[in-house]
Amino acid sequence: MAATNKIFSILLFLGLIFQGYGQSCSLNDLSVSVAKAGSFIQGKPEWEVTIANNCVCKQQNVKLNCTGFQTLELIDPSVLSVSGNVCLVNAGKPIISNDPFTFKYAWDYLFQLTPINSTIACS
Ligand SMILES: *[C@@H]1O[C@H](CO)[C@@H](O)[C@H](O)[C@H]1NC(C)=O
Ligand SMILES: *[C@@H]1O[C@H](CO)[C@@H](O)[C@H](O)[C@H]1NC(C)=O
Repeated sequence: MAATNKIFSILLFLGLIFQGYGQSCSLNDLSVSVAKAGSFIQGKPEWEVTIANNCVCKQQNVKLNCTGFQTLELIDPSVLSVSGNVCLVNAGKPIISNDPFTFKYAWDYLFQLTPINSTIACS
């Protein structure tokens, strides 16, 4: 009985390791920061949004919660495509680690855009 428990414990332990390995990247590895870019567009401050992927795996089809988002500065849809309350980043192409993706917008205030979906591709 004790031996069976031991084997069971080892299997459980290995299971946790593999599960942890598979889940090593998540949406939480995407960080979005916003800072004043320093210029003004039609009287409104310009902001630079930086999306960093802190995971070794690529994250693609990255979508942000864009509820309330507005900009006077036009943004190319291949950079940020707004569809209702959801924005698709980089036309769905991957954001890779150590190569943050940035775009600029102009509005009176900062928008806190949060990642709501992505596809993680480890290869
Ligand atoms: C998006 O943001 C709005 C405003 O902060 C919030 O009410 C809403 O629940 C968010 N939606 C999702 C899908 O996270
Ligand atoms: C992300 O999008 C996929 C495909 O549309 C969907 O199946 C999945 O449930 C979404 N995940 C979240 C957290 O919204």
